[in-house]
Amino acid sequence: MNNNDNNSPEKEETSEDKSFFHLPEILKIDFDKPVPFKQQFAFMSTVLVISCLLFTVVYIQQMFAGNIASAEDGKPTSVANDEVSGTPASDTSSSAEKEEKKPKKQQKKVTKISTVGADILKKMTTVERTPDDIHKGSLILVNKDYSSALDGENITMLSEEKSDSYVLSDNTVGVDAEIIPHLNSMLDDFESLYGETDIMIACGYRGYETQVSLYNDELDDNDTEGDQWVAPPGYSEHQTGYVFDFDLNLADGGKAGINYDGEGDYAWINNNCGEYGFILRYREGKEKITGYLFEPWHFRYVGFPHSEYIEDNDITLEEYMELLHKHDDEDVILMEDHDGHQWCI
Ligand code: DAL
Ligand code: ZN
Repeated sequence: MNNNDNNSPEKEETSEDKSFFHLPEILKIDFDKPVPFKQQFAFMSTVLVISCLLFTVVYIQQMFAGNIASAEDGKPTSVANDEVSGTPASDTSSSAEKEEKKPKKQQKKVTKISTVGADILKKMTTVERTPDDIHKGSLILVNKDYSSALDGENITMLSEEKSDSYVLSDNTVGVDAEIIPHLNSMLDDFESLYGETDIMIACGYRGYETQVSLYNDELDDNDTEGDQWVAPPGYSEHQTGYVFDFDLNLADGGKAGINYDGEGDYAWINNNCGEYGFILRYREGKEKITGYLFEPWHFRYVGFPHSEYIEDNDITLEEYMELLHKHDDEDVILMEDHDGHQWCI
């Protein structure tokens, strides 16, 4: 008897020592007996503390994954007109830049835009604009219905900035400074592919008075198609500075007027201008939409990737605008450029 009495407690102690987890006495509940209030309280408190800890861990993990916006991220910001900015999906910017570009308002919509994915949205930036800015920027629509509010404030003389791969009809040809690097790059690439060329820029920015005299001359000629060649003053894209007309610098002077037809070697320009931010503004077969006859020499800068989308789909700027109005940041346009990068617009 004595031996047995002495051995029992020793056995129990040994098995408890081996167990990995020591449950406090108060949490050892025998559910076959009525549970004292003190024990119930201790049990519930423990469950609550464990739940809180789990929630905190999951919350922090989600925050680092970018699926939860911080309080600062939720501050109201206005969205750009500009031009619905394109955002490359395969951006190669540094992680510091990526941090800086982290979206504010849009980040909250990550879960809604499941087709686009959080990785693309993280690269978006919000640009603030005033109502006046809606009339500015390289994506503005100017046609017979919408006048140009730009007045040449950013015009630079091409003679000061142009590359050697083309000539000017005279030294007063100017364009918006933004487009010059793209124009130089397009014509430099053209020259390196086809050798020395005859490309000449005949016209860029036009002031209001210049457009008045061109328009009146056209009407004076009694040309029934006059208003399909020349825009009424105030309604010409040339007044934006985002436009130029090509001509050819031919030894014999060529024919009167414009010699550039975008054919032969020059077809390369008309087929590839989209990669440089330009579009052929007055396309063949789209006269009813643009209001003007086919002008293979008239190029408009709208910026990449808009230009590539428009050119690849053979649409007009009017049709692209309509398309943009049908989409928003929860139903973006997705496109892949010729280098295989994906963009959401
Ligand atoms: N030739 C174009 C339509 C203009 O005058 O602006
Ligand atoms: Zn033109």
